[in-house]
Amino acid sequence: MATYRIAVLPGDGVGQEVIPEAVKVLGAVARGAGVVTFEFEPGLIGGAAIDATGDPLPDATLSLCRESHAILFGAVGGPKWDNAPQEKRAERGLLGVRKELDLYANLRPARCFPMLVDASPLKRSIVEGVDIMVVRELTGGLYYGEPRGMEKMADGGRRAINTMTYTSREIERVARVGFDVARKRRKKLASVDKANVLVVSQLWRQVVSEVAREFPDVTLQHVLVDNCAMALVAHPAQFDTIVTENTFGDILSDEAAILAGSMGMLPSASLGETAALYEPVHGTAPDIAGQGTANPIAAILSAAMLLRHSAGMGRDAERVETAVLRVLEKGYRTADIHQDGTTRVGTAQMGDLIVREINMLYS
Ligand code: IPM
Ligand code: MG
Repeated sequence: MATYRIAVLPGDGVGQEVIPEAVKVLGAVARGAGVVTFEFEPGLIGGAAIDATGDPLPDATLSLCRESHAILFGAVGGPKWDNAPQEKRAERGLLGVRKELDLYANLRPARCFPMLVDASPLKRSIVEGVDIMVVRELTGGLYYGEPRGMEKMADGGRRAINTMTYTSREIERVARVGFDVARKRRKKLASVDKANVLVVSQLWRQVVSEVAREFPDVTLQHVLVDNCAMALVAHPAQFDTIVTENTFGDILSDEAAILAGSMGMLPSASLGETAALYEPVHGTAPDIAGQGTANPIAAILSAAMLLRHSAGMGRDAERVETAVLRVLEKGYRTADIHQDGTTRVGTAQMGDLIVREINMLYS
């Protein structure tokens, strides 16, 4: 029996509510599959860690992450910590883990499930059949570039600096992930940049084109980021796999979430050579936190990605995904995707319904 150690970092806001549901699901899979044991080790991160230790990423949490096979992460941040100095903001916890563990490839699938077509604010004709995978570079660019900071100027004004920087190595490794992912899908890769203005994007485009030679079976298209933002809402079904740098990926993946009906549906995997973190894309949602109404499906689908990418349990991941579809087919919805004629359920109830379907799939 294989044992996988999973660091469980719920963080803040609805992270505290959805992660327990993902843990429940992994427990059900372990019982059903009967070939693995998951050891769940809780850790503090973000605002929760600031309150307890003064540090958004305590050393103990970082060690726990390093010693685990995978990390199940909720969300960090919230109004309570928004006025902290930059280095002590809750978000630093997440940015620190990404950098320390070198989690450079962030996979964000955005799929419009047939029964949720009308949950998207976009027209049915636009979102129907959408199935996109965004591969976002996660450890470079503006998020980490030096120099950065704020300074006073002689004239009494202030100046702030961030630096967008990429090396060809950083671009190459994430480009390769993009091509690999596209190869297993519909073999179409859109590389998104701003090469008409930014020199960083010019290097990005050169390197991606070089890597493309190793993948003659994948069709590569270069798309400018402003045009991509428009195309994502105008004709999103044309996209299969998208690879892009950190900041563009942050923005475009939120946009892509709307194609899936709700941010509450979107899972993610952040992969490095030796570590992996799984996280719902929705964030802390302070407006609904603490009410037990958050959608746990993004967290549960993130657990499915964990099974697939970290535990080598692709078949079990499919079971979890099937269970989610079945619960939706039966008409159960959390508030974010609720419509007339469907049954509204809370966070834990949605988790229980999915676990029940998983149990049936193993029986
Ligand atoms: C995301 C989030 C994070 C990011 C924040 C919380 C630091 O928006 O994962 O998309 O900007 O990367
Ligand atoms: Mg974001």
